[in-house]
Amino acid sequence: MEQDQNRRRFLQTSAVSVIGASSAIAFSKHVSTHEELETLKPLKNDGDMVCIASGNGLQAVEEAYANMKEGADTAVAIVKGVGIVEADPNDMSVGYGGLPNEEGVVQLDASVMHGPTHKAGSVGAIENILHPAQVALKVLQTTDHVMIVGEGAYEFARAHGFEKKDLLTEKARQAWLRWKQTRSTRDDWLDPDQMDWTQDGERISHVERIQDSIPFTYGTIHCSAVNQLGEVSGCTTTSGLSYKIPGRVGDSPIIGAGMYVDNDIGAAGATGRGEAVIQACGAYAVTEAMARGMEPTQACLNALKKIVKNSTKQRRLIREDGRPGFNVIMYALRKDGIHGAAAMFPRATYAIADSKGSRLLKCASLFD
Ligand code: GLY
Repeated sequence: MEQDQNRRRFLQTSAVSVIGASSAIAFSKHVSTHEELETLKPLKNDGDMVCIASGNGLQAVEEAYANMKEGADTAVAIVKGVGIVEADPNDMSVGYGGLPNEEGVVQLDASVMHGPTHKAGSVGAIENILHPAQVALKVLQTTDHVMIVGEGAYEFARAHGFEKKDLLTEKARQAWLRWKQTRSTRDDWLDPDQMDWTQDGERISHVERIQDSIPFTYGTIHCSAVNQLGEVSGCTTTSGLSYKIPGRVGDSPIIGAGMYVDNDIGAAGATGRGEAVIQACGAYAVTEAMARGMEPTQACLNALKKIVKNSTKQRRLIREDGRPGFNVIMYALRKDGIHGAAAMFPRATYAIADSKGSRLLKCASLFD
């Protein structure tokens, strides 16, 4: 107890001395030239609230926008918004109904970042918790940590009153089972077209080959928002790569990869192949490009170009025509409400809610 009080006193004293020290900080001339600091001047916000999300987030932006209109903090509002998708069993890339890992267990990743305090929270490979973004928000709000993973994240969530829930739906279990059965011809699992029985145990003479229809996703939801005060927040939540190696963590909970916020500049996020996004610090690259004056869509395309360039160093990731064999979509929301998104390939969309209502917009694409 006494030790505890001493620790508290120490923390209070050190907090005071840290604050005292920080006011005396002068940037070394080597760190930033005047011109460099000029480009990082905070953008002005024109007073409109804007919320954007990946294409699966139309309801999420509507919910987040409605919450912001009622005065909710931007981080709280977007976490509420993505909660709709986390609870949707039909979205096989996020939360409940998400495709499981190779052992048939659903493991979720999520992150939240709050621009005004520059505080972040995230969870990785968390199991049996329906709303990982809410847990990430709790990490942000109630701890001095940024990231909690695995069993620790689950226990942390339980301590905060989150209920235990089995996240594997019947549809996702069937998909996983078909993936397992068709993975290799050199194991003891029969392919569906080698069986005389359906998965439900019905005797049949022929089963259509169904390998090509097995769902597979890197899908995710990213959502970010800015309010009338120019307060920016971002959030990304996912069930990650389908049939991944247990414990694999993607880009979504990595601050600077699947999501990043700089309250002076804006927010960015990613969906798609997480490994490629992590290795390019994708979301950080987008916000930094916006800080240098690049328009949001251009900043997204710029990050994608870097990802493609990196990928050419791993030939298995590049198709015969030289294009990447995977997709990544980057999203950007500038502090002044200007937004954009870009995908490797055409036809991707992103969602927006602002004073004109909610709608889906086309993402720019790097390749035709
Ligand atoms: N972008 C989601 C993942 O790769 O896990």
